Amino acid sequence: MKILVVYDSYFGNTERIALAIRDSISEENQVIIKNISDYEEKDLAGVELIVIGSPTRAFRPTEAISGFLKKIDVKKYKWIAFDTGINPNLIKSRVLKIMVRLFGYAAPNMAGKIKKAGGKMLSEPETFFVIGNEGPLGNGEIVRFQKWLKTVRI
Ligand SMILES: Cc1cc2nc3c(=O)[nH]c(=O)nc-3n(C[C@H](O)[C@H](O)[C@H](O)COP(=O)(O)O)c2cc1C
Repeated sequence: MKILVVYDSYFGNTERIALAIRDSISEENQVIIKNISDYEEKDLAGVELIVIGSPTRAFRPTEAISGFLKKIDVKKYKWIAFDTGINPNLIKSRVLKIMVRLFGYAAPNMAGKIKKAGGKMLSEPETFFVIGNEGPLGNGEIVRFQKWLKTVRI
């Protein structure tokens, strides 16, 4: 199967997760990994599954990722969505903690848009946690991502 991994990343954390896909997906699959800023329409040729990743910014995916979802024919593909965001257990401000729990993360937001547009999600969306506002990724988060992917029937 041809798989496109498309992600956005400001500080490199979501990118590290996206690049870790190679070790968790069978070599029978052809995997193309693209930063959204390098994505071109022709990258979609022959693609069956899109793995989409975004940092959570203001409880949502980045504009570039939301724009990508608006631009393409979502229902033609199978989807897996992940994001990076702050672990609510590590947020000191009570107000922010409540807001994060209430308004959520980028991946459920993307999954909602994908389902609404008729795309098929292969798994529940998942968040991988960074420690500070700009990272780094929490201990073991890359391994957790790889294990999570292996549970998805592609
Ligand atoms: C302007 C800004 C807004 C952010 N908003 C959120 C947020 O709403 N929820 C959250 O969990 N993390 C938030 N974060 C933390 C980001 O999720 C974190 O920077 C991101 O996971 C890092 O991924 P990247 O290195 O791929 O950019 C925010 C960070 C910045 C700089």
